[in-house]
Order: sequence, then C-alpha cells, then structure tokens
Amino acid sequence: MRRKEFLAVGMAAAVGARVDAPGGHLRPDPAPQDIRSQFPRLHGEAFLNGGGGTPLSTFTQAAIERYMDVARFGTGGERGAWWFDVWDGIRGRFASLIGASAHEVAPVECTKAGEQIVLDGLPRLQTGGTVVTNDLHFQGSLHNLEGRRRAGHPVVVVRGDGSRVPTQRMLDAIDDRTALVTVSLVSNVTGHVEDLRAISEAAHRHGAVVFADIIQAAGIVPVDVEAMGVDVAACSTYKWLFGIHGAGLLYVAERHQGSTLPDTLWPGGARRLYEPFAESGEPGTLSFTPREDADRYRPGHVNYLGYAAADAGLRFIETVGVDALLAHSVALNRRIVEGIDRDRYEVLSPHLDRSPILSLAARDLAAVRGRLAQSDVVVSTGGDRHDLIRISPAIYNDESDVDRLLEVLNG
Ligand SMILES: Cc1ncc(COP(=O)(O)O)c(C=O)c1O
Repeated sequence: MRRKEFLAVGMAAAVGARVDAPGGHLRPDPAPQDIRSQFPRLHGEAFLNGGGGTPLSTFTQAAIERYMDVARFGTGGERGAWWFDVWDGIRGRFASLIGASAHEVAPVECTKAGEQIVLDGLPRLQTGGTVVTNDLHFQGSLHNLEGRRRAGHPVVVVRGDGSRVPTQRMLDAIDDRTALVTVSLVSNVTGHVEDLRAISEAAHRHGAVVFADIIQAAGIVPVDVEAMGVDVAACSTYKWLFGIHGAGLLYVAERHQGSTLPDTLWPGGARRLYEPFAESGEPGTLSFTPREDADRYRPGHVNYLGYAAADAGLRFIETVGVDALLAHSVALNRRIVEGIDRDRYEVLSPHLDRSPILSLAARDLAAVRGRLAQSDVVVSTGGDRHDLIRISPAIYNDESDVDRLLEVLNG
C-alpha cells in the first residue's frame, strides 16, 4: 500500500486488526489496521493525547524486551549484533530526521536537560547576557527561566495573545544584549509554530544563540535545523518519537561544539598525570581531553533501554514518513473542527495545517471534564490555560476516535 492510500484508508481503520510485527518491526508500507493494532491502548480508549506522550506500541515493547535480554545475558552473538547496530545508529537516525549529522547529536536525559546545557554553558550568560523567550515556551522551561530571573539574571518573556506569539514581537525583543533565544518550535499549548528562520537570523545578527525545544515537532513536523538556523535543539523521545521517558536527544551545530558552547560533563576525558596514577607528568595536573563531537555533551551512562525504544520509534517514523504522519493528524483535527459546536468552543490553534495540536478554549471546561470522566476518551484539559482542551491525534487514531470525542464535546 502506498502512503497516499494509507492516509485515505487510515481515516477508516478498524480496531483490533491482526498484529503482524515479527521481531517488533512492521512490514514496509504497513496497512492502517496493522499500525493501529500495534497500540493496545487504542483497543480500550479513544486516546487523543499524543502531545502528552505516546501510548507504548507493540513494536517499541519488542525492542525493550530485546534490550532486556542484552542486560540479562550480555552482548554475545545475535544480541550484541542487534544492540550495537541500534546504539551506533541512533544518533544518525535522529540526525536524518532533523537535517543534521550524526556527530551533531548526543544522548541527554530529556528536553530540559538539553536546554540546561546551554543555560549553564554559554559564556555570555555568565556575564550578564539576556535570555529571550516567550509565553508559549514549555511551562517547565518558563519555570526555570523565572527562577533565573528572580536570581538576578536578565530574562525577557515576550507575550503573545494566548494563541500565538507574533514573530515581530520576538524580533523586536532581540538586541545586542541578547545571549540566548530559547523557544519551543511547536507550542504544546496551542500548536503555534515558531518562525525559527526569522528568529535565528535576528539572533545571529546580534551574536546570540538559538535553542529550540523540538519535542512537539520531531517525528511529526518536518524539522531542518540547518535551514531553520537553529544552533542547539533537544527533545525527549516519549511523544512523537514513540519511545519512553528518560531518553532525550540533543543537537549542537558543529560550529558551536566545544567553543561557543563549552562542555564539562563527559566522564572519562581526564587523566591524572602524576604518580601513582602515571609514571610521569607535572604533579597535581589532570589532562582534559573532551570527546571530538557532540558526544562531549553526554552526561555519562544514559538510559540505554530508552534508546532501544527510541530506535524502534525512529524506524517506524522512517517507514511511514513524517509528512504522512502529520497529514493524518491534520486530517483528523480538521474533522474535529468541522464537528464541534462553535458556540461552545473557540479554536485557539493558529497553525492547524502545520502541527498535530488542536487546542480549544471551552466555555464550560468543568462540564466537559465531567463528561470526559464518564467516557473512554483521553485528551488533555486545563494546565496552561484555565479553559484549555488540547487534542493531539496521531497515526494510531481514526475517525471512530474523533466521533467518540465529538459526542463528548457536543454532549
Ligand atoms: C514543549 C514541551 N517541552 C518539553 C516538554 C517535556 O520536557 P522534558 O523532556 O524535559 O521532560 C514537554 C512535555 O510536555 C513539552 O510539551
């Protein structure tokens, strides 16, 4: 089946179809029902919260189980061949997804750990440089930046209108004092998509660095860090990369590695150059030899099991294609927008054709929550806005999920 057909049929995919995933991999060009049946949570729920985190798929579970065998029995034979292929390849797989090179990618714990490497490492931030962000950046990052502001460091939070942040407001906030601009490429609040190209150009004109939180983009929205001019980016793998918590990926453009963005973390790059550790050397000195590439930002041993899961997710994304994944979410969101009672719900999402997130402002959120609690429909409510319903369908959803949601919303 071709991808276009897949999209068309995907809208009508049936629940409970045959699982066909030998060794955890789907066949090339999988049928929609094969995909849906790989996500057991969908058998019991109309789960429409991919932006919160993916339900675990059978193909990801299979990879996790394979890694467990490596952990239990070691890397002998087939087990090692599989695992080294995964571990050696994961940086390249992610790099291909975001338009980077493998040596520009490092494993980190999560998105915010990647952002923190920039906040801690950029020399200009230690000498009074300003951080510019906006109020659609991730709440956890805003928490961090507000703490920074209260500790006396300059932070500018550009305000939007609750749905989007006009790019011009960002450009107006960037000046010669700016050391870092940090934003979410796709907002988890409304699905607003930043114009990173314009923001990067302005930032670079003033000698500033751009960090992009790409957790709501990687695997579902086309990302090209080079074309976007992004300097550093990071994400966890438990949302649109179909992995699990605790395994993130960091991108650092080659031009910044070890220079604009110094590193201090990788354990093992220092040697004691004095007796009894070494025969000779200046007493009291340590050598310092960081890794050559982005691996220098790796904090140490990481969640290998999580990367086995992420590898399965990345292979799945390669099989289906980011364009097809996004088109599927967009088509389902369109159906929801057409079906909701517009007297009761205002559409907040400004970029419905470019992001998988459909956010609604509800006139009576308490009533909706009451109906959701009685149903098998899962979406995100409240959180960043008092009246917010966030719906984020993915490739495992179909029209039957949308219809169940519409019944609850319009009930
Ligand atoms: C935009 C955005 N950034 C970051 C995160 C999570 O951050 P981390 O990967 O550091 O846990 C989320 C999770 O909801 C998010 O939506």
